[in-house]
Amino acid sequence: MSKQILILPGDGIGPEIMAEAVKVLELTNDKFQLGFELSHDVIGGAAIDKHGVPLADETLARAKAADAVLLGAVGGPKWDKLERDIRPERGLLKIRSALGLFANLRPAILYPQLAEASTLKPEVVAGLDILIVRELTGGIYFGQPRETRVLENGERQAFDTLPYSESEIRRIARVGFDMARVRGKKLCSVDKANVLASSQLWREVVEEVAKDYPDVELSHMYVDNAAMQLVRAPKQFDVVVTDNMFGDILSDEASMLTGSIGMLPSASLDANNKGMYEPCHGSAPDIAGQGIANPLATILSVSMMLRYSFSQSDAADAIERAVSVVLDQGLRTGDIYSEGTTKVGTVGMGDAVVAALRNL
Ligand code: IPM
Ligand code: MG
Repeated sequence: MSKQILILPGDGIGPEIMAEAVKVLELTNDKFQLGFELSHDVIGGAAIDKHGVPLADETLARAKAADAVLLGAVGGPKWDKLERDIRPERGLLKIRSALGLFANLRPAILYPQLAEASTLKPEVVAGLDILIVRELTGGIYFGQPRETRVLENGERQAFDTLPYSESEIRRIARVGFDMARVRGKKLCSVDKANVLASSQLWREVVEEVAKDYPDVELSHMYVDNAAMQLVRAPKQFDVVVTDNMFGDILSDEASMLTGSIGMLPSASLDANNKGMYEPCHGSAPDIAGQGIANPLATILSVSMMLRYSFSQSDAADAIERAVSVVLDQGLRTGDIYSEGTTKVGTVGMGDAVVAALRNL
């Protein structure tokens, strides 16, 4: 039976980078006879323009029915003034939550060809290979109550709530340990247990889960220290497991170690490895429409999709090799450009990956 893949390009640079990723996906589909059927829909600002909401019910139904979802990015200044509940980002949070995609895998890998593109010294980042496992459907992003209100003295006040239940912590901790087990066997759990009740429970539950993984070395780190250690000595980390908001922040930080957030893919998985795949970066409205965005994060998200949702590791490897070939050829989008390399645009980069993949 054919596998259904739903493509949601989103806003800003989303459609541009997605067009390149789809070229790569279609070629991979032919070359490895994967039998994928692609369909397209809208999310975020594009959905607000079309349906008045950032994620229409019919789009969510199609995402639920699909075997995997490939997403570009959402948001932009056009929709920034809207109320929080109908902003483009709400569509993204809703699809993550409704599909139960609690495990967000964000690898930060430094391609050796890009050591010069990092703002850190090459010896600090050479060979870097970190995996951030971010809890994605709980914590402060979804906690209730959340409110903006006017106090009796007339002053406005706003608050959010940061809840974590034992079961939510346990299942994401297991993903962290499972990933560490097949990598470098080191897991660092990041929290703020010196201040937050939710983090104290987080630490306790992670300790309990650790009993099932005696082969994995567990450490704990406060998030402020982790932010510092990531730029001081990032290679001390193998797998990092952390909550939704800390993971949001630390994954942006980790991405810059690799030279550009434009290189980093992500996978968001449910309990059965059904997933949504998207670049870690946003919709970059400042460069949208200029044809200069880096499509590699989205192309590498296709590779993650083949690996995690479809167990097609040969096809996934081929895409990653093709990306490596293109970097060897010295082709760079602006975000990873350094002297002596050749600057290309979004389409140029996509075409080069397609050509490299065809020639493998
Ligand atoms: C991310 C993004 C999203 C998040 C935004 C767009 C809601 O920053 O995927 O990291 O905060 O999760
Ligand atoms: Mg983010």
